[in-house]
Amino acid sequence: MNKQSQWKSSTGFILASAGSAIGLGAMWKFPYMAGIYGGGAFLLMFLAFTIFVGLPLLMMEFTVGKMGKTYTTKIYEKLTQKKWLNIIGWNGNLAVFVLFGFYSVIGGWIIIYIFNVALQMITFSDDNLGNIQFEAIIGNPFLTIVGQGIFILLTMIIVMMGVEKGLEKASKFMMPLLFIFLIVIVIKSLTLDGSMEGLKYILQPRLEDISMQGILFALGQSFFTLSLGTTGMITYASYASKEMTIKTSAISIVAMNILVSILAGLAIFPAITAFGYKPTEGPGLLFKVLPKVFDQMAFGSGFYLIFLILFLFAALTSSISLLELNVSNFTKNDNAKRKPVAFCASVLVFMISIPATLSFSSLSGIHFGAGTIFDNMDFLVSNILMPLGALGTTLVVGQLLNKKDLKAHFGKDKFKLFMPWYYLIKFVLPIVIVLIFVVQFI
Ligand code: TRP
Repeated sequence: MNKQSQWKSSTGFILASAGSAIGLGAMWKFPYMAGIYGGGAFLLMFLAFTIFVGLPLLMMEFTVGKMGKTYTTKIYEKLTQKKWLNIIGWNGNLAVFVLFGFYSVIGGWIIIYIFNVALQMITFSDDNLGNIQFEAIIGNPFLTIVGQGIFILLTMIIVMMGVEKGLEKASKFMMPLLFIFLIVIVIKSLTLDGSMEGLKYILQPRLEDISMQGILFALGQSFFTLSLGTTGMITYASYASKEMTIKTSAISIVAMNILVSILAGLAIFPAITAFGYKPTEGPGLLFKVLPKVFDQMAFGSGFYLIFLILFLFAALTSSISLLELNVSNFTKNDNAKRKPVAFCASVLVFMISIPATLSFSSLSGIHFGAGTIFDNMDFLVSNILMPLGALGTTLVVGQLLNKKDLKAHFGKDKFKLFMPWYYLIKFVLPIVIVLIFVVQFI
């Protein structure tokens, strides 16, 4: 997307930014995180953080984008006349770069699964999707590297051709379709024998399951799903026209993200207990459990294939905006440099994504810090760079920007939300972020 392009309506803006925000975070990452960090307790913390921290921060990022209207390694300077503050934009740039590195691993898995299911259908082998062995596929270094290579290549081609707009149009029907599919999976999951235990696990918060680590990861999860602190949402808002409404847009995106996360939870957890899995399976959770659910449906492989394609689509609408962010910052919105920059960024991403992929095969023995190399990349992004970026922006908005200007960009304020929002950003949220941040290192 180039600088000239603007979203014509508020709905166009909401669709585009929702496409970017809703991706693997809600559908793949939420269930596996919730599985590790206490099920219902995690869901509760995630909801609290998303509503009381994520929503105001999203409104803040939208306001900054709308005020600054330029790429994010320049926007802080433009708004405050302090060049060094552009470091917040560069932090976001680094975050999306590393994020794309491990995001593409999961994107690659989806592609491999698509081929697998399609081939099974062609060869008319018995319709047993439960046979799709996660370990055999994901433990194959060559296959997974090829998969993620294809995912990065697809993303790169879309960004180079500048056809994101077309993709956004397609998302108008692809996203609702994905939604419907999720609901169907939820229904199927809930009717499996032994599903109630799993349902209880994800819906019933048990206070004893709340841990300091869980709190930290729940905050990281709400940052991740809402793309906060990466300046991604600032970029989207910088393209927006005057009509874009900050509150409606932010509330819609938060609501959609919560809904998709909960649906993903309701789809996965009942099936976990029904099929005798452990909730703590980790990043492979969705890929292990879902084939079993589809296996129980009539025309299971056909539906699974369509679901995987929709899932890939949701991942791609996010990955193109990850790459786009790097491209817009390094080209400074100069379209002539778009292709070479997109190419170089993609090659670099491919390189850093290889150790992430191999965390599930040849390098699975390497454990340090937060776990495998993959886990550490995720931790660096979700729990360090994203909170830091968001903290930086709260400080800029709360301490350096003019309140009147902010109010003017905040838009019509029928429900008198501006003042509470402003004080949250100015006094409360920076302290909350710092506290949670400091506690993790104690
Ligand atoms: N929110 C995205 C997801 O849930 C991931 C993401 C984080 C992202 N930061 C971003 C996407 C910046 C695009 C731009 O999948």
